Parts: sequence; C-alpha cells; structure tokens
Amino acid sequence: MTVTALIVAAGSGSRMGRDIPKQYRLLVGKAVLAHAVDALASHPAIDAVRVVIGEGQEALARQALGSRDVGELVIGGATRADSVRAGLEAIGSDVVLVHDAARPFCPADVVDRLLGALDGAGGAVPVLPVADTLARADGLLGEPIDRSQAVRVQTPQAFRLRELREACRRWTGEAPTDEATVARASGLGVAVVEGDAALEKLTSAADWARAETMLASRLVSRTGMGFDVHAFAGEGPLMMGGVQIPHSKGLAGHSDADVVLHSITDALLGAAALGDIGQHFPPGDPQWKGAESSVFLAHAAQLVRDMGGIIDVVDCTVICEAPKVGPHRDAMRARVADILGIPVSGVSIKATTTERLGFAGRGEGIAAQAVATVRVPQPSL
Ligand code: CTP
Ligand code: MG
Repeated sequence: MTVTALIVAAGSGSRMGRDIPKQYRLLVGKAVLAHAVDALASHPAIDAVRVVIGEGQEALARQALGSRDVGELVIGGATRADSVRAGLEAIGSDVVLVHDAARPFCPADVVDRLLGALDGAGGAVPVLPVADTLARADGLLGEPIDRSQAVRVQTPQAFRLRELREACRRWTGEAPTDEATVARASGLGVAVVEGDAALEKLTSAADWARAETMLASRLVSRTGMGFDVHAFAGEGPLMMGGVQIPHSKGLAGHSDADVVLHSITDALLGAAALGDIGQHFPPGDPQWKGAESSVFLAHAAQLVRDMGGIIDVVDCTVICEAPKVGPHRDAMRARVADILGIPVSGVSIKATTTERLGFAGRGEGIAAQAVATVRVPQPSL
C-alpha cells in the first residue's frame, strides 16, 4: 500500500492579516509549510509528500521548503476544495492523506490511527470533542445544540485515492470545507479517530501566538565558540565578515581566508554540537579552493534550522593591529546578518589589538573569536 500526503497551501491567509500568507511565514525559525511537510515526511508509512500552492506563490513556497523533496509543486484554485481537487489529479498512490499546510504539527500516532481505521472504512478523520457550549446564533443566541453529539473535524483526512478522486469529480454542491463531506456524499463511510490538540489550525493572530509559545517552550538555549587565525601573505585587499577590506596585505588560506566568517561558522557548529568547519569543508578538498566563506556560514546556519533551531545572536572579536575594523563594522554586521537570515541587531562585531604582543601584535596575521547562541529542540536524553 503506497501513501501520499497531499498538503494544501494555496490559501491567502486573509484572517491572519499579514503581508505574506501564513503557511510561508517563519514560525520559530521554520516556515509553517516546512513544519507540516517535516511532520508528515518523517512518518515511516508515508511514501511521498506533495504540496499544492497558489498561483504566483512559487518563490515563497520554494524558499519555505528549501531542499525538502516534495516533487513538482501543484497549482491550486480559488477555494480549498479546488486546490485539493487539483492535487488529487496530480498524484498517484493507493492512499491519500489530505492535510492543511496551516496545521504545522501532526503527531505520528494520529497518522497511525487514520491508516489503521482505513482498513474497515471508506475514509478516516481525526476528531476532537467540543468543550464549549454549542448553540445557534443569529444576532441573538438561539437554541443550544447537543454538543455530546458533535465533534470538531481536523486534518489529515485519509482515503483511498481513487475513491476520493471519483467523489470529488462527482461533487456538484458549494465548495465543501473538507474531504470527508465529499466522501460521505458519495456513499463512503468515514471513520472517526482521536485527533490531537497539536493539530489545531492556525487561523488568527491569536492562534499564531499560541503556537509560537508552545514551540519556543520546547527549545533550549545553547552557546558555542569558534576561533580562527590566518597569516598575512601577498597583497590586499582581504575579506573579513564577508566584506572586502582595503589593506596593503592579504590573508593566506585555502578559501578566501575570512577569519570572521570562519570563527562564526565554528561557533554555530559548536552550539549545535555538529563538529567543526574542517569536518564539513575539508581544507584539502579542491572544491573549496578560493571558496567564498559565506557558503560555509550559510551551510552552518541551515544545519541549525534543519534541526528546528533558531539563531539568536552571534558575537565576534577580531584581533589585529591593522586594518582598522571600525569603519567596516556596520557593513560586516549587515552582511553576516544577511547570510544568517537574522536581524542585524543579532550580530555583533568587535575588534581589539594585543598591545603589539604576540603574532597579531607583530602584524603577522589576524585572529578572530566568536560565540553564537542558538535555540534548538531539547535533545532527547
Ligand atoms: N487553501 C488552499 N487553497 C485555497 C484556500 C485555502 O489550498 N484556495 C489551504 C490553505 O493554504 C490552508 C488550508 O487550505 O492550508 C486551510 O484553509 P484556511 O485556514 O482557510 O487558510 P486560508 O484560506 O489561507 O486563510 P483565510 O481563509 O483566512 O484566508
Ligand atoms: Mg480559507
């Protein structure tokens, strides 16, 4: 039995009221859509994840997804039901799990329950009981509705792909809000399984704040340090903090010898306990000869984000008699912030001399040391 997770992400997020649709916004360092994709892709029973996006959302979606494998993006339609239908026509598998991108967290046991229930039913949906009083209202409060007979229906919703596709083709009513409605209308029996509060959909700004607090509370703060030295050799200019700095002497190194970026890269790798720069980019490897060190730093930042982590601050001290760092400080901060994808306020660059003592004091080279503070998911003990 092959299973495809179909994630619909073609909405505009109008009720969230932000400049970009909610599914492409970063929720604690990672796009909502990426959270949803990761939650489903990591389930062993799910063979493929496909994503439906809105017309003109390709760039946002690509940025949100990074290197995640979701095959070709499918273009959705004006309503959620149109988007689901476009997705169903574009995929091929035995079973489909239709899921909202706006539900970033999907516990694995919900998927287990859905797939288990599909054995004896035409479809399966996760549901939660209604805790509040339920009533009709039309300006004035109307009749109460018996809440013991009502449930709240979430996604993912599981069906045999061929049956759901047929049911959607036959549907002629108003745009339905979920697939179970369509499946039932075509005569399929839909089983209910226990849903999960983590599956709550992000609809309003208040939902966003709640999800952010919940996620952030699972992160722990960690700090790493980095240190690097390069000797002066040949003529300048030299690279520091990703910025070209005029100087009479250049720096020797296999890459562009950017001590600032190297020390910050090592600090980040240290904070995430992911080894050091030499392990990720061996100095003997010809592909890194003359390489721009921004590649190393961007890679380290991506590794932290791939862990579900956030980079809070980096702080670097450059140790040399010359060149003067001060005039270039703001350009270096801006460039480092850009490479890391964090605000400039999270990047500090400082400089000191060693009072003419030691190799830096004699003008033989430049040293840099850095610390980085990140927040990453609590490592399992
Ligand atoms: N969706 C979709 N295609 C549409 C409308 C919605 O794929 N034409 C997706 C959304 O991206 C979301 C899910 O359906 O993942 C649930 O929809 P909803 O929460 O209503 O999201 P939006 O429609 O984006 O938000 P709003 O209704 O506030 O504009
Ligand atoms: Mg909507």
